[in-house]
Amino acid sequence: MDIEFVRSRFIKHFDGTTGSIYASPGRINLIGEHTDYNGGFVFPGAVDKGMMMEIKPNGTKTVKAYSIDLKDYVEFGLNEEDAPRASWARYIFGVCREMIKRGVEVQGFNTAFAGDVPLGAGMSSSAALESVYAFALNDLFADNRIDKFELAKVGQATEHNYIGVNCGIMDQFASVFGKAGNLIRLDCRSLEYRYYPFNPQGYKLVLVDSVVKHELASSAYNKRRQSCENVVAAIQKNHPHVEFLRDADMDMLQEVKGKVSDEDYMRAEYVIEEIHRVLDVCDALEIGDYDIVGQKMYETHHGMSKLYEVSCPELDFLNDIAKHNEVTGSRVMGGGFGGCTLNLVKSNLYQGFIDEVKESYRAKFGLTPKIYDVVIGDGSRLIERG
Ligand code: GLA
Repeated sequence: MDIEFVRSRFIKHFDGTTGSIYASPGRINLIGEHTDYNGGFVFPGAVDKGMMMEIKPNGTKTVKAYSIDLKDYVEFGLNEEDAPRASWARYIFGVCREMIKRGVEVQGFNTAFAGDVPLGAGMSSSAALESVYAFALNDLFADNRIDKFELAKVGQATEHNYIGVNCGIMDQFASVFGKAGNLIRLDCRSLEYRYYPFNPQGYKLVLVDSVVKHELASSAYNKRRQSCENVVAAIQKNHPHVEFLRDADMDMLQEVKGKVSDEDYMRAEYVIEEIHRVLDVCDALEIGDYDIVGQKMYETHHGMSKLYEVSCPELDFLNDIAKHNEVTGSRVMGGGFGGCTLNLVKSNLYQGFIDEVKESYRAKFGLTPKIYDVVIGDGSRLIERG
């Protein structure tokens, strides 16, 4: 992401002066999908792509925002009734409102932003956008008194209250807490986390973007979450301590078979298994056993496809190609319904796999997949103070 590019647009679209520049990344997730809102474990890392923005208080009560990528300009006030229509601007508005709810005296500002994390590809471009504004408003209007976890929660609350997606904490957490070269295992119940240096010798981590956008998937996402809550409510009748699916096991799930819908049962089965897979992967990483890591990734894909039903024919096809090319691990990443597969592949097999993926995907779907080599980068940060 180019600082000069953002700056030149900021100067052009406002009064010619400059402000402060901040950046926040998108994320990958090695394993642990749809576990965050179930109090389970996730294992994400920030990427070297994300959102960058310039911002300067303008001495008014109005936010003047320019999306460099969309070439769209929006103004809005800071009261609840001032919500802008443009969906990209609602993210910024939501972050302002959530900071205000936490006692921050947010003032009007001029801002321009741009991103290089692909939209709707499961790499959390929206969390990157939320985090970069939460981080900047904390720095500019609150002397950084809001802690990093709360900044992540500001982004999550923006999704819940202003976008309509009842997401978990993973994406915003990874965007704020990311550290170059490290994955982070987060326990979403206790919020304890641990950095894991990740540099598998002899392997590459690569994203294959199906270019199927998942942007309209929010109602399906919310439905999955509802299924999990239905099962928790049923289990609680006999096991009152169960607050999340994290607290449940397969025996408890068996007990409610027939009392919850078959669909809800399948969803919970996937989640309970997935939470264990994260811990298995952590153990495997400790001893450098990438075959186990890869095997768990394939299991996740299978569960997301057949039990949680958040895959699609394109992603299943990409997963099959990976298998046929002896890729060590492959799975749909993020919320699903489109976006990327994450692939752990031996370096010597990498080029053959990429060539084969491009060719056969094009032949089958008439689409060219995009390939992104994963570089694990840093979290939200100030780039230059104005
Ligand atoms: C989306 C949500 C996250 C998480 C993932 C699935 O990215 O924003 O909170 O639930 O899906 O793991």
